[in-house]
Amino acid sequence: MEKEKRTHKSHCIVLPYPSQGHINPMLQFSKRLVHNGAKVTLVPTCFISKSLLGDSGPITIETISDGYDEGGFAQAESGGAYMERFRVVGSETLGSLIEKLKSSGCPVDCVVYDAFLPWALDVAKKFGLVGAVFFTQSCTVNNIYYHVHQGMLTLPLSEPEVVVPGLFPLQACDLPSLVYLYGSYPDFFNMLVNQFSNIEKVDWVFCNTFYKLEEKVVDWMAKICPLRTIGPTLPSAYLDKRLGDDKDYGLNMLKPVTGACMEWLDSKPNGSVVYASYGSFAKLEPEQMEELAWGLRRSNAYFLMVVRESEQAKLPQKFKEETAEKGLVVSWCPQLEVLAHRAIGCFLTHGGWNSTLEALSLGVPMVVAPLWIDQPTNAKFVEDVCGVGLRARADDKGIVRREVLEDCIGKVMGSDGLKEIKNNALKWKNLAREAVDEGGSSDKCIDEFVAKLTAW
Ligand code: UDX
Repeated sequence: MEKEKRTHKSHCIVLPYPSQGHINPMLQFSKRLVHNGAKVTLVPTCFISKSLLGDSGPITIETISDGYDEGGFAQAESGGAYMERFRVVGSETLGSLIEKLKSSGCPVDCVVYDAFLPWALDVAKKFGLVGAVFFTQSCTVNNIYYHVHQGMLTLPLSEPEVVVPGLFPLQACDLPSLVYLYGSYPDFFNMLVNQFSNIEKVDWVFCNTFYKLEEKVVDWMAKICPLRTIGPTLPSAYLDKRLGDDKDYGLNMLKPVTGACMEWLDSKPNGSVVYASYGSFAKLEPEQMEELAWGLRRSNAYFLMVVRESEQAKLPQKFKEETAEKGLVVSWCPQLEVLAHRAIGCFLTHGGWNSTLEALSLGVPMVVAPLWIDQPTNAKFVEDVCGVGLRARADDKGIVRREVLEDCIGKVMGSDGLKEIKNNALKWKNLAREAVDEGGSSDKCIDEFVAKLTAW
């Protein structure tokens, strides 16, 4: 079909790694592309698509296979086996999908793929399509992996302090855990470093961040690849409000307990509740879960705690019953609605990048108790670079203790309290909105991409 006869300017396939923390930002980016006139087909794996609840709005859904249609990642013998099979079966089935869309009269122009899946670029190039990589983690973290990939940061580390071009000085424990605990999870380490395996062939590099948030490192990385900042990728209702009724991410792998959470929050005073969540992925040590639970209890604040069904057996016995006056424990919640609620005074988080950007964009002060991968670096970022929260430090056993949590929560929620954190939170909230609003740095990058794709 000739481009001028199309109802849309161009057609992008968007391929996320199959987890909530990757689907959310790539789905939101897709909505912005559609807003600019592109057609988008989001491509989850067959396995994940069966568990996606909700509505993808203007985005069409098609699936490909990761080779584990019955059980996904959990069905694989190891992380490495999963990634290898996904590469082989994913390449084949992505190719078939591109062929199918070609003959259906709506040919694909571009593949936007998750940086965890670099083989998708080879598929795009085989079909003569534009290839765009999407990084779901911060530019700071990506820069660190880039230096490891290039052999410019040699591992294991030999010094307690690390200087990475484009970044602020980092202690070893501020680096992603896969870097400072070299050898801890080799399969994940390889996946993250391999994000850069074919970066020189890619046409566009998108990162879920915004220019003013990571200015220095963005400038540095833009010299080595065609980097564009396109975030924060929250639904428009929480930022610029330009995308009609875009109020939530739309596709949930778990069912949120919305009514009970919001009614409970409605009954609490302004700024009186700690919201605690460890994201969609983390499996906590039982000892850590216990410390978190008692830390929340000891803070004496109200708390809303998300503990996924699969993690609930790790809560202290009778914890829910014994703390019912102060707390509510749910298996999943509408996180954005919760963070935006007037009753929330602080977010106790593992520091996943989506959660970090969400709190930053909604002006919510944080206590970050990071577990692994990018989270320690995000914690450093929250505390020292943005000044919007505190890092709760782990002991020698790697466990964040209840007293530490109590102390951090007390400081962030306290009335005298860290006025500077609250002022900074407001400042970043405004800058986040500005970035995606008309004429903002992220808005311009998205405009540029769709315009160039159309002219391609
Ligand atoms: C992981 C990594 O931690 C993250 O840094 C990486 O960039 C993506 O993969 P995850 O651990 O799930 O993600 O955390 P996070 O990045 O914070 O994403 C969780 C998402 O789930 C957020 O968008 C959050 O809004 C949503 N969520 C979480 C809910 O909707 N409800 C909940 O109850 C908890």
